[in-house]
Amino acid sequence: MRREHPTTVLRPPEQDTAGTATAVAHPNIALIKYWGKRDERLVLPWTGSLSMTLDVFPTTTRVRLDAEAGHDEAILNGVPATGEARRRITAFLELVRELAGRPERAVVDTGNTVPTGAGLASSASGFAALAVAAAAAYGLDLDEAALSRLARRGSGSASRSVFGGFAVWHAGPDTGTAADADLGSYAEPVPTADLDPALVIAVVNAGPKAVSSREAMRRTVDTSPLYRPWAASSKDDLADMRAALRRGDLEAVGEIAERNALGMHATMLAARPAVRYLSPATVTVLDRVLQLRRDGVGAYATMDAGPNVKVLCSRADAERVAEAVRGAVPDGTVLVAGPGRGARLLNEGGR
Ligand code: PMV
Repeated sequence: MRREHPTTVLRPPEQDTAGTATAVAHPNIALIKYWGKRDERLVLPWTGSLSMTLDVFPTTTRVRLDAEAGHDEAILNGVPATGEARRRITAFLELVRELAGRPERAVVDTGNTVPTGAGLASSASGFAALAVAAAAAYGLDLDEAALSRLARRGSGSASRSVFGGFAVWHAGPDTGTAADADLGSYAEPVPTADLDPALVIAVVNAGPKAVSSREAMRRTVDTSPLYRPWAASSKDDLADMRAALRRGDLEAVGEIAERNALGMHATMLAARPAVRYLSPATVTVLDRVLQLRRDGVGAYATMDAGPNVKVLCSRADAERVAEAVRGAVPDGTVLVAGPGRGARLLNEGGR
């Protein structure tokens, strides 16, 4: 069921010494979506979400402390980060320094194999890898729940990429202190029966999105009349999803995932002004997925903050689904992903 993919190693990891650590993480695709924060600073969501971590598109991140440096440095795919990307990485390192009680600045070197900002969860793998590498470089000894909470502060969906396979991110209590809510909002693995799932990923446009997910969520929560009803139904979807995973019912998993994603996009379409990530090519793929179901193939679609479509199906049907989707978007890129591993440090020798 699991296929190993080569990971991107920026420099030989055996060069890692004290104050230096390298980690790898994979993106995840939410089957129950996270959409909307109740606390922007702490990144606390209104609803719980659930995802599958992929075995494709790894991000590899090395963090090296530099006691002499006056500021942090971030390199993304070999190019110095600027603007918002740099600001988010520095803010994240500030958080790690606060937790560790250490002042050193750091050099962050990240290699992403997923198109950045295209709704393919580059921020999930990016901040999960950064959380694991930075925690180790600064000498923090965190358990997985604490790493998940930390990754969450970089990007909500990153809380789930700490884990492999299926993971649920708890919204955390919405009463009590902010500290209680913070502690209660983390991801953990979800028990599932044997499913052998695949996600066929149709990249119809790999360009960066026009509206960031952060801005789109804010606008949706503040202005969409459909947001509250969706949030309420998403809580039920999450419970139904957990039950479907427990009994290994891939058809139910797909149906719930598809309705939850379409509902999320409906909330954005009703925002003022509307946020529309779905493109004509997205709809073409959705039509093809419907046709597959009419032909008796269990295939179900989900979309994030971008036009790309991920189609859930059984591993046995994945090649047939991929062929059908390729036929629908001849200019797109279609690949098959399976469940991948959680974020981890690369030890000597790159394991
Ligand atoms: O983690 P962010 O801030 O990039 O938000 C991701 C939101 C969605 O991808 C649309 C849904 C999800 O749960 O991953």
